[in-house]
Amino acid sequence: MTLSLFPSDAPEEPINITDTVSQEIAELRQQLNEHSHKYYVLDAPSIPDAEYDRLLRRLQQLEEENPELITSDSPSQRVGAAPLSAFNQVQHVIPMLSLDNAFNDDEFAAFDQRLKDRLKSDAVIEFACEPKLDGIALSLRYENGLLVQAATRGDGQTGEDITQNVKTIGSVPLKLKGDDWPPVLEVRGEVYMPKKSFEALNQAALAAGEKVFVNPRNAAAGSLRQLDSRITAKRRLEFCAYSVGDVTEGYLPGKHGEILTKLSELGFRLNPELKVVTGVAACLEYYQDLGARRDQLPFEIDGIVFKVNDLAMQQTLGFVSRAPRWAIAYKFPAQEEMTLLKEVEFQVGRTGAITPVARLEPVYVGGVTVSNATLHNADEIERLGVMVGDTVVIRRAGDVIPQIVSVVMEKREGNRELREIVFPDRCPVCDSETERAEGEAVVRCSGGLVCGAQRKEGIKHFASRKAMDVDGLGDKLVEQLVDQQLVQSLPDLFHLEVDKVAALERMGPKSAQNLVDALEKSKQTTLPRFIYSLGIREVGEVTASQLAKHFLTLDKLLEASEEELLEVSDVGPIVAHHIVTFFRQEHNLETLNALLAEGIQWPEIEAAPAAEEQALADKVIVLTGTLSAMGRSDAKARLEALGAKVTGSVSKKTDLVIAGEAAGSKRAKAEQLGIEILDEQGLLDLLAMHE
Ligand code: IVH
Repeated sequence: MTLSLFPSDAPEEPINITDTVSQEIAELRQQLNEHSHKYYVLDAPSIPDAEYDRLLRRLQQLEEENPELITSDSPSQRVGAAPLSAFNQVQHVIPMLSLDNAFNDDEFAAFDQRLKDRLKSDAVIEFACEPKLDGIALSLRYENGLLVQAATRGDGQTGEDITQNVKTIGSVPLKLKGDDWPPVLEVRGEVYMPKKSFEALNQAALAAGEKVFVNPRNAAAGSLRQLDSRITAKRRLEFCAYSVGDVTEGYLPGKHGEILTKLSELGFRLNPELKVVTGVAACLEYYQDLGARRDQLPFEIDGIVFKVNDLAMQQTLGFVSRAPRWAIAYKFPAQEEMTLLKEVEFQVGRTGAITPVARLEPVYVGGVTVSNATLHNADEIERLGVMVGDTVVIRRAGDVIPQIVSVVMEKREGNRELREIVFPDRCPVCDSETERAEGEAVVRCSGGLVCGAQRKEGIKHFASRKAMDVDGLGDKLVEQLVDQQLVQSLPDLFHLEVDKVAALERMGPKSAQNLVDALEKSKQTTLPRFIYSLGIREVGEVTASQLAKHFLTLDKLLEASEEELLEVSDVGPIVAHHIVTFFRQEHNLETLNALLAEGIQWPEIEAAPAAEEQALADKVIVLTGTLSAMGRSDAKARLEALGAKVTGSVSKKTDLVIAGEAAGSKRAKAEQLGIEILDEQGLLDLLAMHE
C-alpha cells in the first residue's frame, strides 16, 4: 500500500503546487532577464528600479522556499556567492590574442598597404571600427545557450576562471536570448568601469579612508580579481562584446560586423560607436572624430581597433606571433605618463587655503604638455608618500586638471636626492601664520584681506559670472589692478579711472571704458548674487539663493544668529558658523557698507508660499548614491525649496528615497521598509513637475 500525505480525493495537488511555483519562477526569470537586458544592454529601462527589485525579491523568496529549483542562470545568481580560496585555471581552446599598434596616420596607412600586399589585391578594404575600451579582456563560454564559464585572458593560453564574479555584471547574459545560437559559443569582449562609476567608487573610498584606484582600468581589474564575488556585485562594471572564440562551425555569418550584430541579437551589449567603413580615409576620419569626442564618452578608450571585416580575408591574412595580421590598434596619445617632480610650490586661494602645486619636468600627456599638477592638500601628499625629486605618474583624462596618481617607487633607488615636502608655517604671500583646523585637510593663511593673494582671489570671485558678472574683468586684469595698487579692496573697483586702466598691459582707452561701464552695469544685481559675491566660506550660489529666499533682505541676514541660520535649507552648523563669523568681522561690514554706498542694489524678493502650500510640504526625503545631473547639495536645496525635509538616514518616517548611481545600504534599507524609491530621472521629473 502506498501512503499518501494528501487526501485521496485531491491526488494532483502537490504536483500542481510545484508546477505553479516552477511556472512563476520561470516567468519571473524571463521578466527579470528581459528587464536587465533593457536596462544594462540597451540602456532603456522599461520599469522602475523598485519594480525590478520587487520581482527579484519574489524570485529569491520562491527559490529560498524551493532550493531544488535554483539554476545557474537564474537572475538571483547575480548577487554574488560565497568567497573562493583561489581562482581555477582555464585553458583557452582558441588563444586570446593581443593587437599590433599604430601611433600615427602613416603607420596606419602602412598597415593597410601590408594587407593589400598580402591579399595581392589593390581593392579598397572594408574595416570594422571599434573603440578600444580600456578594461580587461574576457572570454565567456556558452553551452546550449547557458553561461558556463567566464575567463580572463591571462597569458593568452591560460586564464583564470572568474565565472562567479562575471555573473554579477548586469550586461553579461546568463542565458542567450532566443533559441538560434550555436551549441558552443565563446564571446569575447571587454569588461570596463564607466567613468562615473569609477569616480563614485573612488569618492566613497576616500570618504572611508580607503585606498583609491588610479584609473578605471585598475578599478575594473581590482573588482574582477575579488575572491568574494559579493564585492564585485557592488561595483558597477559593464561588458561589451567585440569578437568570438571557440564556436560551433556553421552558425555565424561571414563578416565581423554581422557577427557582432548577431551577438547583439543574442543579448550582448555592443559598443554604441561601432561602425563598418571602407578604405583608409574613412578609418582616419573615424579615428579623428572619436578622438575629438574621447573626453565626452562615458567610458575610457585608449585607441581605435580596426579589423578587416571579411572573415575569408582574415583567414588568408592569418596571424603573426600573438597578434592577428588583419587587425590593428591605432592608439590615442597616452593619458598617463611618468615625469620628474622638480619642486612643490604653495598657492594661496580666496579663502586662504594653501594648495601645494607640483612643478614638473614638462611631459606630453592626454594631448597637452603638462608642467604643473595639483597635490590638493597635506593628506594627499601623505597618501601618495611623494617627495620632491620623485618620478611620478601624471594622469590627465580629458579636461580634468592633471593629477599625480602615484609615485614610481622603483625609480627611487638610485642617486637622486629626495626631499620631503614640508607645508609652510607662514603664508608664502603675506607671511601671516598658517593654521589647520582640526579635522580639516586644508591649511590656511590667517591673514584674511591683509593677504594680497586672498584679496586678488576675492576680487576675481566678486567679478565672476555667477557673482556680480562684471564683463571684461578677468583674472589677469585683477592681478594687474592689485599689483599696480589701483584696487586694494572691492569698493575701489567702482572708482577706477579710465585713463589709469587704459595704461595697463593689453588694455586701451576703449576696453578701459568698457570695463568702467560694465562695473556700473553690475550694480543692478540680485540679492542672491550679491550674497554669493561676498565670498563667504562654503556659501555657494545655491546656499546664497536659499539665504536670500529665507531672509528676504540683507539686513535680516546680517542680524541672523547661528540658530536662525540653521533653519535655512542647505545650511548646516559649519556654514552657519562661517556666515556669522564673516559678518562679525568689522572690515567685512565696512566693505559691505561701502559697496552698498556705491549704489549696488537689487529688486525686492517676494516671500515664498506658506509651507502648507508647497508641493513637498513636510515630506521626509533621503538622498543617496551619486547624482550626475546635479550635486547632492543642489538636489537637497531644490527639494527643500519645495518644502521637503531632507535627512541623512532612512527610517520609518522617510517618505521617499532618491537613489542615484551606486546607492548602497540606504537603498537596501528603503527596500526593506517598502519606502518609495526614485532614481535620478525620477528626481528630475519630480522637480520639473513642481518647480
Ligand atoms: S580584439 C584578435 N577589439 O585590447 C583580436 N580588443 O591588445 C584580439 N581591446 O587585450 C582583441 N577593445 O582587451 C579587440 N574592440 C576591441 C577591443 C580590444 C579593447 C583590448 C583587449 C586586448 C587588447 C589588445
